[in-house]
Amino acid sequence: MMTRESELIPADVDPVETEFRKICTAIPTPESVEILTALRALEPRAMGGQPPIVWDHGRGVTVSDPYGNRWLDFSSGVLVTSVGHGHPAIIEAIERMAAHGLYHAYCFPTAIRLDMVREIMSWLTKPLARVLLLTTGAEAVECCIKLARTQGLRAGGRKKNVLVTFDDAFHGRTMGAQLAGGIESLKSWMGDSDARFVQVPFPDGFRQTDTSFDVFERALQEEGIVPDHVCGVMSETYQGCNATILPTAYAQALRAWCDEHQAVMILDEVQAGFGRTGKAFGFSHLGVVPDLVACGKGMSGGMPISAVLGTDALMNLYGPGEMTSTHSANPICCAAALANLRTIREEHLVENAAKLAPVLRKGLEQIRLVARNKIGRVDSIGLVGALQFTEPGTTEPAPTVAREMVKRAVQQGVMLFAPVGVGGCAVKINPPLLICEEALREGLDVLEAIAGSL
Ligand SMILES: Cc1ncc(COP(=O)(O)O)c(C=O)c1O
Repeated sequence: MMTRESELIPADVDPVETEFRKICTAIPTPESVEILTALRALEPRAMGGQPPIVWDHGRGVTVSDPYGNRWLDFSSGVLVTSVGHGHPAIIEAIERMAAHGLYHAYCFPTAIRLDMVREIMSWLTKPLARVLLLTTGAEAVECCIKLARTQGLRAGGRKKNVLVTFDDAFHGRTMGAQLAGGIESLKSWMGDSDARFVQVPFPDGFRQTDTSFDVFERALQEEGIVPDHVCGVMSETYQGCNATILPTAYAQALRAWCDEHQAVMILDEVQAGFGRTGKAFGFSHLGVVPDLVACGKGMSGGMPISAVLGTDALMNLYGPGEMTSTHSANPICCAAALANLRTIREEHLVENAAKLAPVLRKGLEQIRLVARNKIGRVDSIGLVGALQFTEPGTTEPAPTVAREMVKRAVQQGVMLFAPVGVGGCAVKINPPLLICEEALREGLDVLEAIAGSL
């Protein structure tokens, strides 16, 4: 039985209607409860945790449910839909490839794979010279770990097997990626720590106030790690658990350190790559080029495809068939991702992210101001930002307030994913790169009004 829309809106939620947002039912919508509870009954709890909205379709910077509600998307799913939802170029590419009759090709050569690899090459800086297409970000990270360890064995023997990564880092949920991750709660299931994976403080200037490279060297010393035993160092260019980019001087010192000790420098750009930060790559801000780069998310346009980018020597360590997997370079994923990257280029979306970066930054600072001591730290670069909710005057996470912020934003038509990061305290703001200034300002105004009443 249909209930009148006005009866479904709780007293404290006003109906919303603008070009980008429309909320005309209670949230969660009563009609959606059947889907929500059936999923809850059939899936592991791990698939839960996001706002209780049934995603049905999207167009540009908006995403809609099947019940008449529409959200301004500040999530890009999870930093994936850089050209927005329902982009005609991506739909056309997927339809064309499917209609052509090829939706799987294993590693047999295809013309679409060549087109995709060539497109990625056109984004690269030397000495990055080769592209391996895989399926997920974690798979790309695993491949980087394997290459660094293999290179270590060759350059320094069995002792050169330590991979250094950073506190609070997230690299994916497969075992190597979790060993490399710096979030203890995510790897407690492994029981033991592994001496070949070592984390050092990330120079975020917040929880780690000394951002000098001395901290890196001191941390290794304290762990008893001989620098020449390090096979590689891997970091996110900005930490995905918030949006803190490596300081330039630190990144350059790290590059020099890796060269001195024959360690592979790996940057995980699964979030940062292909325009999110307002430049082609996050490392384009830092004056360094890593030896290996893991990419996924924003490169993909929405289909499961990822990439490892690397130097000639590293990428050729393995022989035919030794780094591939079943869905490497799936033709439909290649077609979609190619359309995505071409659209980013043709519609100048990297430039758009750079142009709107100050608007995002200013909006976030304003949100922090009105939140009166509830937000301990604001970070942003390009079109990714994070508000870290903390106990006043400390770095202690305040996850309850962060969750409330997300809940109210979604009730008012701004789509955010659940808080992430240290203690679940960070609210991430990362709209599609094609967002216009008007939409960005509208969403930020909504968040500011909420922050003022938390
Ligand atoms: C920085 C970073 N690396 C790796 C991954 C893992 O990517 P995927 O979920 O595609 O395996 C993620 C996913 O959130 C990420 O943010």
